[in-house]
Amino acid sequence: MRALVTGATSGLGRAMAIELGRRGWRVALTGRRKEKLASAVAEVRAAQAGATGAACLELLGSVTDPETVRRHYAVVKDAWGGLDWAILNAGVGDAVDARRFSAENYRWTFETNVFGVAHWLEVVIPDMVAAGTGTVAGVASLAGYRGLPTTGAYSASKAALITMLESVRVDLVGTGVRVVTVSPGFVKSEMTDRNEAGDMPFLLETGDGVRRILAGIERGDRLVHFPWQLSLFMVHVAPNIPSAVYDWIVSRMKPRKKRPYVDESRQGRPEAGR
Ligand SMILES: NC(=O)c1ccc[n+]([C@@H]2O[C@H](COP(=O)([O-])OP(=O)(O)OC[C@H]3O[C@@H](n4cnc5c(N)ncnc54)[C@H](OP(=O)(O)O)[C@@H]3O)[C@@H](O)[C@H]2O)c1
Repeated sequence: MRALVTGATSGLGRAMAIELGRRGWRVALTGRRKEKLASAVAEVRAAQAGATGAACLELLGSVTDPETVRRHYAVVKDAWGGLDWAILNAGVGDAVDARRFSAENYRWTFETNVFGVAHWLEVVIPDMVAAGTGTVAGVASLAGYRGLPTTGAYSASKAALITMLESVRVDLVGTGVRVVTVSPGFVKSEMTDRNEAGDMPFLLETGDGVRRILAGIERGDRLVHFPWQLSLFMVHVAPNIPSAVYDWIVSRMKPRKKRPYVDESRQGRPEAGR
């Protein structure tokens, strides 16, 4: 089997790539941080040791650049002829209170979380449809089901992603291509290490999150969300709470301050690390 994992330098993406490598799959990893990507690739290769036909591709660069994505996919096609699974996992998020509303923060978040996925969909869908098979899994978030305090850009980008994947799924019915929307709650990663938006109930270990994601994709689920307690609230209860009640409850959730998020692609931008 041939899989792509975007955002495989840390967190869920890195752990998913290693797990697929352990299963003897061919795995292509993308990410922007050169050293972290090289070390993730080394770990995948170690996990693949001894597996017949296993291979690993190191694709350095950003999902926000369509040219880079086209070049990365060309490398995958040349090497393996295509993909069985595309796990579109790369994502960013930062806490910015709306009293300091930043359009630039929205642009930066959407560039990765929405357009980063769209760039990959554009290159993988035609070949999967032509092959009559393939699975695309986009990693959204339970935060996409209702607006959360201080993470408006993140919540809105994941809501856009959830809706985008749903439309794509409907369009691809009958083609043999499966589209999976993955919406985790809180899972330990670099993102949750630096989270300053609030408490993280039901925080899962990275390996636990990865097991749930991969099992959901393999089961053929259209929507993979977990843990059940947060899913129940965010997917089924919160969308039906009247706004006046929702605002009252959620505005009482206290943000906490941790170290600021410094993303290399934002260096020099005015709101970087706020
Ligand atoms: N952990 C959670 O609690 C949680 C909950 C819900 C959803 N999610 C989603 O899960 C996904 C993985 O996040 P994580 O929690 O594992 O966080 P993480 O450890 O910060 O990983 C994010 C990954 O995305 C990559 N990335 C970011 N911008 C990129 C870009 N422009 N181009 C290519 N790669 C990029 C990062 O690599 P580079 O910096 O090297 O590029 C990194 O490998 C994200 O989509 C996130 O929104 C996470």
